[in-house]
Amino acid sequence: MKKIFASVAAAVALCAAVSVQARPLDAIQKSGSITLASEGQYAPFNFFKGKQLTGYEIEVAEAVAKKMNLKYEWKAVGFDALLTGLAQDRWDLVIASHGITEERAKAVTFTHPHYCSGGIIVSMNPSIKTAADLAGKVVAVQTGTSYLEHVKQVPGVKEVKNFPTDEAARSALASKRVDAWVTDRFVAKEMLAKAPKAGFKTGDMLFIEQIAAAVSKGNTGLADAYNTALKALIADGTIKAISQKYFQEDVTCK
Ligand code: ARG
Repeated sequence: MKKIFASVAAAVALCAAVSVQARPLDAIQKSGSITLASEGQYAPFNFFKGKQLTGYEIEVAEAVAKKMNLKYEWKAVGFDALLTGLAQDRWDLVIASHGITEERAKAVTFTHPHYCSGGIIVSMNPSIKTAADLAGKVVAVQTGTSYLEHVKQVPGVKEVKNFPTDEAARSALASKRVDAWVTDRFVAKEMLAKAPKAGFKTGDMLFIEQIAAAVSKGNTGLADAYNTALKALIADGTIKAISQKYFQEDVTCK
């Protein structure tokens, strides 16, 4: 009996410990701090500089939190766990370069976008430039991304290889284990600038997308407050300055 009681008590304590996140706006405001989640393996949007999580969208989220008069705490987890973690109340808001898609919008509520971009073809073979050139080829993408969904629709692709991170997909191309890699156009731009001699060439964009943060489905109070703060920071030039720092251009949606 004692044993049963102890395990019930432990289960209750566990629930209490994990159910403090993904809260409505008033609960977040009361606590004074928002729990943010990202991946940390998607430079220059979210990455680690030593132990420090940083990048364009990390700075955007921090600026938004400050504008909302909130402190913030970061969690960094695998890309796959991010959106599901909202439903599990593990954090309040996810910002990890998620494109707004109908499928994802069934499970989460998206905010106003913090950038506009799209998937681009990268290869070391100059004859692979267009979607048609991917016929008969092996293409690397990160698991769970919009790149995977779009490459699957390209007719004639020999194989779509999934990797747990975008960096792993890039390494597969660098070591010629695949013929092409589909990633974000700004990720590709940054990589070409950093390693101009690596032999990577960019081809066409496969699709375009709007990238936004996400909150748990129906948490419109939090989404609205985030949107008001983000729009004010877009209007006053704060987001543009962060964008210039990472991309030497303004990546917000026009
Ligand atoms: N934009 C793509 C998508 O919507 C890729 C996002 C990848 N993000 C990341 N943190 N690795 O799926």
